[in-house]
Amino acid sequence: MRPFFPRVRGGSRDAAAVLDDLVEYHRSNPGVTEATLGALTTRDGRTGYDLLAERVAAGAQAVLDLGCGNGPLLERLLTLPLARVVGVDLCAAELALARARCGDDPRLELLEASGHAFDVRDLDAVVSHHAFYLMEPIEAVIANVARALRPGGTFAWITSSPRAAEHPVFAALMTRFAAITRREHPTFGGWGDRRVWSEEGLRSLFSPELFTPFSIDDFVLVAREPSEALADRLLRFFYSAELQSDEGRAETRRAWLEVLDGRDRVELPWAMVTMRRR
Ligand SMILES: C[S@@+](CC[C@H](N)C(=O)[O-])C[C@H]1O[C@@H](n2cnc3c(N)ncnc32)[C@H](O)[C@@H]1O
Repeated sequence: MRPFFPRVRGGSRDAAAVLDDLVEYHRSNPGVTEATLGALTTRDGRTGYDLLAERVAAGAQAVLDLGCGNGPLLERLLTLPLARVVGVDLCAAELALARARCGDDPRLELLEASGHAFDVRDLDAVVSHHAFYLMEPIEAVIANVARALRPGGTFAWITSSPRAAEHPVFAALMTRFAAITRREHPTFGGWGDRRVWSEEGLRSLFSPELFTPFSIDDFVLVAREPSEALADRLLRFFYSAELQSDEGRAETRRAWLEVLDGRDRVELPWAMVTMRRR
């Protein structure tokens, strides 16, 4: 029996219980997202963290990284001429690593807080790398982001691509994976609020009075490694792989190796959603 996500395994769809499991997982595996995705880059060599740091407009003074984890994006933000960089995360173990890597730069504040409860104002940008979409209750998080941003401020986050189905290898990996998770956990509804996973859902969540229409920019991160290494990387990245039994996980790995068919270069589709505060 794998040790993580006990409440989700127990069938809970209570958002607070799912969040507890998530934070507990990060307490035991701090830095896991950077360890799995941080080594993958776009065709021209940029990570997702680089892409988000580039989204921060010239002239910005104050930026917050929502669900900052162990701080790879904070580290990049601190290379920009910003006056204030704030990292928010619920997991103290992740924040401790962020502090260790960023040192005592006086521009940096780290807050152990949830996305709907941090109390920061007058931000030029809120950015989030594979974190915003996990947060619940999502409406309260969005309301808090709207409160935190000054008019014209940017909200940008990296997520799955709504057009992932157009990438046949990735789509096949996800289909095989989801079938095994669904078989083992038929009542599990997935991570985060369902509405964050579709354009239509996002439109229903973001009020046009508070935010400009969003853009969704697709990009790919290229895995340049043997298929066994990529399968192991993705097993570490996707929380659902921790939900699977040892047998289910082994089955996922076998299915993925079949799909990857010995490839040593695979393009993984992601997307950046960007909007502005009115
Ligand atoms: C997939 S990790 C991404 C970490 C980091 N952004 C990165 O990409 O390396 C998600 C992070 O979001 C944090 N998190 C999840 N839900 C949260 C919430 N409601 N409020 C604040 N942080 C949250 C987790 O503790 C974890 O560090």
